[in-house]
Amino acid sequence: MTRHAKAMRIHETGGPGVMRWEDVDLADPGPGQVVVRHTAVGLNYIDVNQRAGAYPLPALPVVLGMEGAGVVEEVGAGVADFAVGDRVSYCMVLGSYATRRTIAADRLIRLDDRTADETAAAATLQGLTARYLVRELYRVKPGDTVLVHAAAGGVGLLLCQWAKHLGATVLGTVGSAQKAALAAARGCDHPIPYREIDFAAAALDLTGGRGVDVVYDAVGRDTFARGLDALAERGWMVSYGQSSGPVPPLDTARLAAKALNVTRGGLRLFVRDPAYRAETAADLFGLIADGVLRVEINQRYPLAEAARAHADLEARRTTGSTILEP
Ligand SMILES: NC(=O)c1ccc[n+]([C@@H]2O[C@H](COP(=O)([O-])OP(=O)(O)OC[C@H]3O[C@@H](n4cnc5c(N)ncnc54)[C@H](OP(=O)(O)O)[C@@H]3O)[C@@H](O)[C@H]2O)c1
Repeated sequence: MTRHAKAMRIHETGGPGVMRWEDVDLADPGPGQVVVRHTAVGLNYIDVNQRAGAYPLPALPVVLGMEGAGVVEEVGAGVADFAVGDRVSYCMVLGSYATRRTIAADRLIRLDDRTADETAAAATLQGLTARYLVRELYRVKPGDTVLVHAAAGGVGLLLCQWAKHLGATVLGTVGSAQKAALAAARGCDHPIPYREIDFAAAALDLTGGRGVDVVYDAVGRDTFARGLDALAERGWMVSYGQSSGPVPPLDTARLAAKALNVTRGGLRLFVRDPAYRAETAADLFGLIADGVLRVEINQRYPLAEAARAHADLEARRTTGSTILEP
């Protein structure tokens, strides 16, 4: 049987205009696979980096997109954990910019009745990222002071809320007054307007000269070096992205005076194991359902207009999370 889908594909890397809304045929689900009909697709900065050619992709053409939510429509041989009609989400599996797709069942997260499809599509990737950042790479504890870059962004708003929930004082860089207000409403005690004032000087001021315990930095090139200046002795630089460009090479001698720690995280490692992923997703979606974390879906675009969504994300016009509607 041939199943049809519409998908946003690229045949070359480049600007948002390389995306094409095309008809694709789906193969039968093989052993261990299911067909998912998407009800909502998540937009993430990794999509921009992959589309632009900054992050590697398999052989082109490919369907973009690393996150989706929807309903299981068909199951292949040997799939025991999921059945037709189950509501699911997933992240870090390329190919979500499509009305439906085939996917390995062991990459899925089962959604409970308290989690809406849109919430899952907005927060599976960004929320599981925020979780490993505050609970694994550096474990935020009561009394910590943390600095979150792009605090009004998708991951940023979740990081602010989660760090606050864990008892930290939260500083966050923001690119506009509107973003400052949004971050402040979501756990950021001290939004720092980095276009007007130097963020490292502000962080040192706000901590009485001591510096912060941890910097969460996915801006990269523009912020990394100055972030080291903002850290307290034995503080942690947690790098996890490069919205402004790659982090320049680091001379570790630069870390000696304050005995700093530097790490770089990737979500792939933290969603690999199905049991661990189910446990961390339950933690994330439980905190959302309980109202501890609020997911701000501040933009919605038809999936067919993903190019416009990419342009807005790259131009820093978005806040919080963004949904693409299949
Ligand atoms: N390693 C991982 O596991 C992982 C997982 C998820 C996301 N990430 C990374 O986390 C970052 C945030 O992702 P997101 O999807 O939540 O995006 P986002 O933060 O909602 O959007 C990007 C924001 O970054 C700020 N920014 C600073 N310099 C920028 C520049 N030169 N170009 C564009 N934006 C710039 C802007 O906020 P201001 O206007 O306030 O500056 C912008 O709104 C990305 O770098 C992404 O790749 C990494």
